[in-house]
Amino acid sequence: MYIKDIELHNYRNYKEQKVSFSKGVNIFIGKNAQGKTNLLEGIYLNAFGKSFKSVKDKELIKFGEEYCRIKSTAEDEDGEKTTEIVIKNDGKKGIKRDGIKVRRTSELLDRIYIIIFSPEDLKIVKDEPEKRRKFINRELCQIRAGYLSDLNDYNKILKQRNIYLKEKQIDSDLLDIWDRQLAASGTRIIRKRKQFIERIDEISRKIHYGITGDKERLALKYESNIPASANTEEVFYEILAANREDDIRNGTTSRGPHRDDFSINADAIDLRRFGSQGQQRTAALSLKLSEIKIIEEEKGEKPILLLDDVLSELDNERQILLIQSLGENQMFITTTDIIESVAENLPKGKYFKIMDGQVASEI
Ligand SMILES: Nc1ncnc2c1ncn2[C@@H]1O[C@H](COP(=O)(O)OP(=O)(O)O)[C@@H](O)[C@H]1O
Ligand SMILES: [Mg+2]
Repeated sequence: MYIKDIELHNYRNYKEQKVSFSKGVNIFIGKNAQGKTNLLEGIYLNAFGKSFKSVKDKELIKFGEEYCRIKSTAEDEDGEKTTEIVIKNDGKKGIKRDGIKVRRTSELLDRIYIIIFSPEDLKIVKDEPEKRRKFINRELCQIRAGYLSDLNDYNKILKQRNIYLKEKQIDSDLLDIWDRQLAASGTRIIRKRKQFIERIDEISRKIHYGITGDKERLALKYESNIPASANTEEVFYEILAANREDDIRNGTTSRGPHRDDFSINADAIDLRRFGSQGQQRTAALSLKLSEIKIIEEEKGEKPILLLDDVLSELDNERQILLIQSLGENQMFITTTDIIESVAENLPKGKYFKIMDGQVASEI
């Protein structure tokens, strides 16, 4: 599946724009605040039905306009598919696929996989655990049916439990019901995460050897405060019971996958704490590249890659490493400028200039 074209109407800083893409690499060059990220956001929007930024839908409408429309065509061996999203000033959103109304945004996701890579992702190794959990969640939501609803269930129960822990009078039978439910959905999350980290550990080790010239042995390990075992659910429940007094005193749930992390080691060094900035960034690259590989292996589809401003964050050598490691996926790369030695290493594609909400093809 690749994206053939996109039409933007009153969307962000675009008035009226149609862009036809290459099946391979698409490079958008432009100064800051011209509309590069907005264009990638438009592509993402047509695949997921929502932005990758935490914004309200109506913020996507061009200032002063009543509605916006984003329409794209994707193509694979079965033919073309169009997706159209219309957002109105009152916040109403309508999504159509091939002209037919789509009820749930999850229907949009079938057979289209997107990996977005932004400067934020380069910090995943040194950032707080929450960012690493986000990384796992984003990938698992795309490749594991049911993961998103496990996550929603868990978060809902956790929230209720935490509110209840702050009450003056605690009914231990009621708390017990929540503990059972938390252990059940939490265990589903723990299992999927454990399996995912083990997979990405294997894949990223190979990729990392490749990009460090066999110098560093990367190793990832799932760190959960609930030991994963054959009877995780029972163990989780017992841990909750054992920590109940503490949780009531602190008004919060201390154990569970909401505190998960995974370690990232190069040889014996914990890169999260002791890696140099260069090591941390290279490991982040390996993780992102592994994400691509996992989707390809599990889904038999090449994910579409959105690289927003990542090149300018990397030194020359790492830019080339990244480019050389990418396959024949369709790619959308934004940058303020491109170094010749990097351009030479890019597969064939199309160059565009973006200025003040207007996209011009350079070929
Ligand atoms: N809803 C909107 N209507 C009009 N302009 C917008 C809207 N949202 C953002 N912009 C403008 O888009 C520009 C930023 O575009 P962006 O794609 O982030 O730039 P960059 O090329 O640096 O990636 C800013 O000038 C911002 O004011
Ligand atoms: Mg930008």
